[in-house]
Amino acid sequence: FLAGDFSVYNAIMKGTLVHCLSLHKDDFQLWNDAIVGVSEKGTISFVGNGCDVKTLSEVYGFSVDQVTNLGRKFLIPGLIDTHLHAPQYAFTGTGTDLPLLEWLNRYTFPIESKYADLQIAEHAYTKAVKRVLSLGTTTGCYYATIHLPATKLLVQIINQLGQRAYVGKVNMDRNSPETYVESTENSLKDTEEFIQYCLASGEEGKRLVTPIITPRFVPSCTTELMTGLGRLAAQYNVPIQSHISENCDEVKWVKDLHPECESYTDVYEKHNLLNEKSVMAHGVYLKDEELQKFADAGAGISHCPTSNFQLASGVFNVRNALDKGVKVGLGTDVAGGYSSSMWESIRQAMNASNTFRFGREFNSVGYREAFALATVGGAEVLGLGERVGNFWPGKEFDALIVDPFVEGGPFDVFEWENEEQIFEKMVMMGDDRNIESVFVGGKLVAGTSKV
Ligand code: GUN
Ligand code: FE
Repeated sequence: FLAGDFSVYNAIMKGTLVHCLSLHKDDFQLWNDAIVGVSEKGTISFVGNGCDVKTLSEVYGFSVDQVTNLGRKFLIPGLIDTHLHAPQYAFTGTGTDLPLLEWLNRYTFPIESKYADLQIAEHAYTKAVKRVLSLGTTTGCYYATIHLPATKLLVQIINQLGQRAYVGKVNMDRNSPETYVESTENSLKDTEEFIQYCLASGEEGKRLVTPIITPRFVPSCTTELMTGLGRLAAQYNVPIQSHISENCDEVKWVKDLHPECESYTDVYEKHNLLNEKSVMAHGVYLKDEELQKFADAGAGISHCPTSNFQLASGVFNVRNALDKGVKVGLGTDVAGGYSSSMWESIRQAMNASNTFRFGREFNSVGYREAFALATVGGAEVLGLGERVGNFWPGKEFDALIVDPFVEGGPFDVFEWENEEQIFEKMVMMGDDRNIESVFVGGKLVAGTSKV
């Protein structure tokens, strides 16, 4: 297999490449002796497998010395976190004892309200973004807080650190603590200013950070606010993110707040917040009719299993959603989730799916499919399927060099193990010690360069 333009390259790498061309099980590819060419612009010029570099170099006129040999290290696409809360990084791994609504009031809102202070924001946001980059997350879909200045600062930090991201200023104008709430008017005004701020930071297609409309969830937003946000989303053609059907008490509350709506999904739909650019987190309690609405609208779900287990929210049935034709990606949902690592999300997605298999036949999500969800699945959910998610020529080089043999690493490899078994160990046991380099758009953003 060989594809792309061999006349354009700035760097060439040779190694074992693992990626998924789609979520379909036949599209998981582990290519030995793979070769990847990266252009000056940081896009993938060409890719091939089963390559004899010497022959290729003669045919295409490059020198063998120009090829970086990664040996038995893996080259894999960067991971895509479709749902995380940057301000919540500070308390990740604590507050593990309460369900969603109590957890928000007791732990989350008090911490998020601190981001009115730019010094706190700068310190915590820098730590949060550096952490996820080092774990191999090349694209993050972030919630900030209600504060406009700190949310702009998050955009600057992400740009500086070189991550690809969606960033949302959170909207909350009801059912929120006095110290952490906005007026409807200010919420809309600040959101519009934030969108314009992000859009002005660079041309479409070149910008690293995209603004995303972020009503926290239905209980936090009045009808007036949601209507205004739906209008802004259409006017600026920007994506939308929120939470949906995460927890039983929450679902009941939304039913009480909106007796005029058929379902939780219907509330977003009626406010023009459910379309092909929507990323809705959790969806644990969505009925099949609601999943059908997601499929029809082209809206995506961010499956956040680590959080669903930690907050005892419930278990999302990924297989059912995929069977209904719904786009699904994975998220860490820090700090509802106790780990910033998408590797943990991958494992918990497998565990979540396995719970539907107990005692019966079920085609549960295995490590290949969970890896696909964390890469191409996330790319589709974020509308970035043409730009990231795998090593298809023309896409951005958002990639990780993974060293399964690293000294002092989290697992050992034995001589009888083949490349796929080693990759499986990485998925199940690997961590940032194994991640040697992280590239976004061809630029090294974490680790050490091998190119
Ligand atoms: N629903 C509303 N806000 C939040 C949040 O911050 N985290 C989670 N997991 N669910 C939410
Ligand atoms: Fe969340």
